[in-house]
Amino acid sequence: MLPMSSVWKIISLFLDKVAGIVLTAGVLGVVIAILVNEGSSTNNNNYYNNNGGNGTNTNTIYNETFVYNQTVVYNNTNTVNSTTTFNNTVVQLVNQTVFVDVASKVLNVATPAKMTNDSSKYSSYQQVVQLFKASVNLSADPCNDFYAYTCGNFKGDMSFDISDNSNINDMVTKLTDDAYISTAPLPVKQTRWYFDQCIYARQNWDATINNGQYVTDAINKLEAGAPGFEKDTQFPFPMLDQNTDVTTWPSNFGLGYLSGSLTAQGVDTIISSGVDTNWKDPAGPEGFAYLLDQPTTFAPNTYYLKDWDSLKVNLNDSITRTMLVLARSQNKKLDPTILQKDVNDIITLDYTLATVFSTDDTTRRQYDRSYNPNTLAQLMSQYHNELFSWHMYLPLAVGTAEQVLDKLLTDPTYNYFVVMEPAKLNFLLTSLNDQNKYGITPKISCQLFSITVLRPIQ
Ligand SMILES: *[C@@H]1O[C@H](CO)[C@@H](O)[C@H](O)[C@H]1NC(C)=O
Ligand SMILES: *[C@@H]1O[C@H](CO)[C@@H](O)[C@H](O)[C@H]1NC(C)=O
Ligand SMILES: *[C@@H]1O[C@H](CO)[C@@H](O)[C@H](O)[C@H]1NC(C)=O
Ligand SMILES: *[C@@H]1O[C@H](CO)[C@@H](O)[C@H](O)[C@H]1NC(C)=O
Ligand SMILES: *[C@@H]1O[C@H](CO)[C@@H](O)[C@H](O)[C@H]1NC(C)=O
Ligand SMILES: *[C@@H]1O[C@H](CO)[C@@H](O)[C@H](O)[C@H]1NC(C)=O
Ligand SMILES: *[C@@H]1O[C@H](CO)[C@@H](O)[C@H](O)[C@H]1NC(C)=O
Ligand SMILES: *[C@@H]1O[C@H](CO)[C@@H](O)[C@H](O)[C@H]1NC(C)=O
Ligand SMILES: *[C@@H]1O[C@H](CO)[C@@H](O)[C@H](O)[C@H]1NC(C)=O
Ligand SMILES: *[C@@H]1O[C@H](CO)[C@@H](O)[C@H](O)[C@H]1NC(C)=O
Repeated sequence: MLPMSSVWKIISLFLDKVAGIVLTAGVLGVVIAILVNEGSSTNNNNYYNNNGGNGTNTNTIYNETFVYNQTVVYNNTNTVNSTTTFNNTVVQLVNQTVFVDVASKVLNVATPAKMTNDSSKYSSYQQVVQLFKASVNLSADPCNDFYAYTCGNFKGDMSFDISDNSNINDMVTKLTDDAYISTAPLPVKQTRWYFDQCIYARQNWDATINNGQYVTDAINKLEAGAPGFEKDTQFPFPMLDQNTDVTTWPSNFGLGYLSGSLTAQGVDTIISSGVDTNWKDPAGPEGFAYLLDQPTTFAPNTYYLKDWDSLKVNLNDSITRTMLVLARSQNKKLDPTILQKDVNDIITLDYTLATVFSTDDTTRRQYDRSYNPNTLAQLMSQYHNELFSWHMYLPLAVGTAEQVLDKLLTDPTYNYFVVMEPAKLNFLLTSLNDQNKYGITPKISCQLFSITVLRPIQ
């Protein structure tokens, strides 16, 4: 039984509940996505047959006939804590007339070009300026304590937090506005539908998670493999069925299936992917790119380099606990010695992924090196389609985003499959075989897909 992202996420929720830890919205979102996936009979990906990308598009998750249950009440106290949202007055704190002269005299920098107040961006810049001016403490000595000088008077939320909070607030307001939703575009209606499911699940939380049914269903669904490709896409779950072994490497379809299924549920594994701004030409004819990035590991890369000893202990603890809870919910008993070895193998592989098959943050800050756009044909010919089926991966990975799928698979001239780490990607794909020097076996690589998605410490 293959524990996929969803499975692990839900298990970790299960654990969180046991431990009384508050759930994060992100995690909850994943669960809701799963609830929806599990509940939909129309979520068919018909692109497996690699027919040149013009397969019938029935990848529809949203059931048009579903009627909002208007009686599901948005429970204000359950979702957004409005006292922590954007405080409009934060950026208005400064009495500008006081600061303008004093600041420009003291700062000793050339007077920058002035923006006129008829620019559409004028008021936004003004707010930022006010925020910065309100944050500096020009009485502090910058040579002695630069932080005190630049941020000594900083109060409130960081600017990104302010805009995040403001965005969330706006979204909640709109999503709960029935009149707005009734005339909104389909994706917005779909979002509302997820939102309602989320609230419903939250209000019925115990019943939703108590018997481990979602976990079991998700395991079973994944274990069943991709329809028509069962031979290549069915995998056992040896951490739970300890008598089972996995001795053969996944085929290119198998690897594509495993990682694509997980990415669809918001959990990346050996490849991390998604739509993002086409940052070299965001206002051009193709404003968006499909990014294909390095593995997603349990923790960010620097933790492995700088805090491995404590990360290791945390990973061991949380993966072990998770497996025990999962086994208990399935009425299985795990041999502790085998379990410990399995957990250890996974942690070792995760470490290898983070340190050998990933690029460090400092190098990655040179963004130009990551801008490697490809067409689909280039992607397939340069990135080992024989080891990793892009035609299996992409339809799964984009999940319910039909238009994205159309864009990616039906337009051979679409040139923005941006491979962020070309050398590492090929290095990883060509290392998943018996010749590898990193101790990766078919069994461990299979387990990787179950475990990478857990991300216990985030
Ligand atoms: C699919 O595409 C091929 C070539 O691009 C074309 O010949 C064929 O008619 C298309 N099939 C459908 C059903 O659109
Ligand atoms: C759509 O939802 C309705 C109402 O829940 C249900 O009766 C119907 O069977 C669903 N259709 C599909 C194709 O899932
Ligand atoms: C709508 O939600 C209410 C409250 O959660 C519930 O009692 C009712 O059964 C639901 N109706 C439908 C048709 O699902
Ligand atoms: C709303 O959430 C609060 C806090 O979780 C809970 O006490 C209350 O019963 C909920 N109200 C409804 C109508 O579900
Ligand atoms: C909302 O957040 C504030 C500030 O963090 C906190 O004091 C308050 O208890 C929170 N309210 C709820 C209902 O969680
Ligand atoms: C907003 O911030 C101002 C300045 O810090 C403070 O006086 C005010 O109480 C805050 N308002 C809210 C609702 O938190
Ligand atoms: C703002 O500036 C004006 C003009 O310099 C001054 O009269 C006023 O007292 C200032 N207000 C505050 C709150 O500092
Ligand atoms: C914009 O700037 C002009 C010139 O400095 C000034 O006359 C005008 O009052 C300003 N308008 C606003 C809305 O601040
Ligand atoms: C600003 O810097 C001065 C000089 O170091 C210090 O006395 C003062 O407390 C600082 N103000 C704040 C808000 O940190
Ligand atoms: C991992 O955790 C288990 C149980 O929490 C413990 O028995 C074991 O010694 C740990 N292993 C390592 C290598 O720390």
